[in-house]
Amino acid sequence: MADRTFYVTTPIYYVNDAPHIGHGYTTVMGDILTRWHRQRGERVWYLTGVDEHGQKVLRKAEANGVSPQEWVDRLVEDEWKPMLQTIDVANDDFIRTTEARHEAGAQAFWQDLYDRGAVYKGSFSGWYSVSSEEFVGDDDVVDGEGEDEGFKVSALDGSRLEYMTEENYFFRLSEYADRLLALYEEHPEFIQPESSRNEIISFVKRGLKDLSISRSTFDWGIPVPWDREHVMYVWIEALLNYVTAAGYGVDPERFEELWPANVHIVGKDIARFHAVIWPAMLMAAGQPVPHRVFAHGWLLVGGQKMSKSKANGIHPNEIVSTFGSDAYRYYFSRALTFGSDGSISWEDIHARYHAELANGFGNLASRVAAMIGKYFGGALPAAGEQGPAEKALIDTIGAAVSAADAAIERIAPQEAMVEVWRIVDALNGYLTEQAPWKVAKDESQGDRLATILATAAEGLRVLAVVLNPVTPKACASLWESLGAEGPLGPLADQRLDDVARWGQLPAGTPITKVPSLFPRIELPEQDS
Ligand code: MSP
Repeated sequence: MADRTFYVTTPIYYVNDAPHIGHGYTTVMGDILTRWHRQRGERVWYLTGVDEHGQKVLRKAEANGVSPQEWVDRLVEDEWKPMLQTIDVANDDFIRTTEARHEAGAQAFWQDLYDRGAVYKGSFSGWYSVSSEEFVGDDDVVDGEGEDEGFKVSALDGSRLEYMTEENYFFRLSEYADRLLALYEEHPEFIQPESSRNEIISFVKRGLKDLSISRSTFDWGIPVPWDREHVMYVWIEALLNYVTAAGYGVDPERFEELWPANVHIVGKDIARFHAVIWPAMLMAAGQPVPHRVFAHGWLLVGGQKMSKSKANGIHPNEIVSTFGSDAYRYYFSRALTFGSDGSISWEDIHARYHAELANGFGNLASRVAAMIGKYFGGALPAAGEQGPAEKALIDTIGAAVSAADAAIERIAPQEAMVEVWRIVDALNGYLTEQAPWKVAKDESQGDRLATILATAAEGLRVLAVVLNPVTPKACASLWESLGAEGPLGPLADQRLDDVARWGQLPAGTPITKVPSLFPRIELPEQDS
């Protein structure tokens, strides 16, 4: 068991609207990562949640004629929490920024910044994007076109800008450029992948300006503790969720155990907040910075970032209701490279579902169970002597498990899945070559038949464990079909560093028919 808890976070999502698969993507990847670490036997804490304050949410509530609190309460209960079930996420905590624990912790942090002289009062004039809740520097302000004609828009994300003049509190961000550059230099893993790291370094090298961190023209936010005329700027409040959920300011023992976080998983659109502003705030408060910020790419639809405001958002239910949560989870981890942008398509999900999950994995499990049923009355036979084919298979499986584990360490789930599918392919190839259905016709070869099927069943045992973080429902069925719980204990207790040790399922274990893990799906005609 690791000494410290492996603490992973997702961004907290704005509750201006219902979730789409872009949000589901980050959340599932964090879930796969944390389930994998649990399967290693580590103590893990996986945090996700929602960002409820700020003008974007306020305006949406107003447009719908309800108070912001009513709006967020409804969306969190009806949409955001259910999404976690839809995509089968095993988070340990869910933070809402309207919770008292967050308010208390955020105020304690702000007070500390103030007491240390990191904050001062000033007046702000400049451009602001409500849709990304971001101050936009003059260099990034451009004239809008098309439906934005006559407005200024942000060159960063095309969102419409508003000019604001307000009395604000400022954070002395400009003082942290050197310390931040030293952090990126000494800890190249702090911001990944390389493309984000380079972008962040050149951004900081251009120089940092002090940052306006409070707002005084509306009140949907957490009051600044020493000046109740101001609420905290939503980003500065939101970043603090990572420490307030860990007990900052209220539970020092818990905070000590969880902080600093091991990985903040974020979309690349918000890497700057996490890799520049956030570590500077922590430095200013005398707190350690997180170990890693991993910025993944965007899901694109028609070449554009999927987002609700562009009306191209797909709800996770739309995919899960057809393919199931396991297939959803597998697809996003396998079909996209986590650090890069990628497109998904209905046809691709359908094709991978049948080729990889149904024919590759599901069919393998049912064939092996059916043959053990037919030839050995459903009791796992004792393996005889291993021949070259078994030795080669066992080597392949051992190497694939190690390589998959190393890929997860690099936060490269796609590469991990490629490695795991080497096991699926090797087992299918082994069965085709050994043709147990032919061997069964020769009575003198009973021992050989037993070896082949016992070897295949062991291979399935390995697959159930290594795929459990990705397709937990199918793996639970497989574990049951292998009768593995009796001799080996619960699936969750199987350890990845021991999984490739051969011969764990004892002879005589009752093997039962697997309900089809990935039944065939006929698709209705699609419009596009
Ligand atoms: N509330 C802030 C985050 C505060 S964290 C301290 C925010 N919220 S958001 O609702 O806009 O969610 C942003 C995150 O959602 C992105 O960083 C990313 O993780 C995910 N995604 C939203 N759209 C996405 C895509 N089209 N593709 C991939 N991920 C996307 O920003």
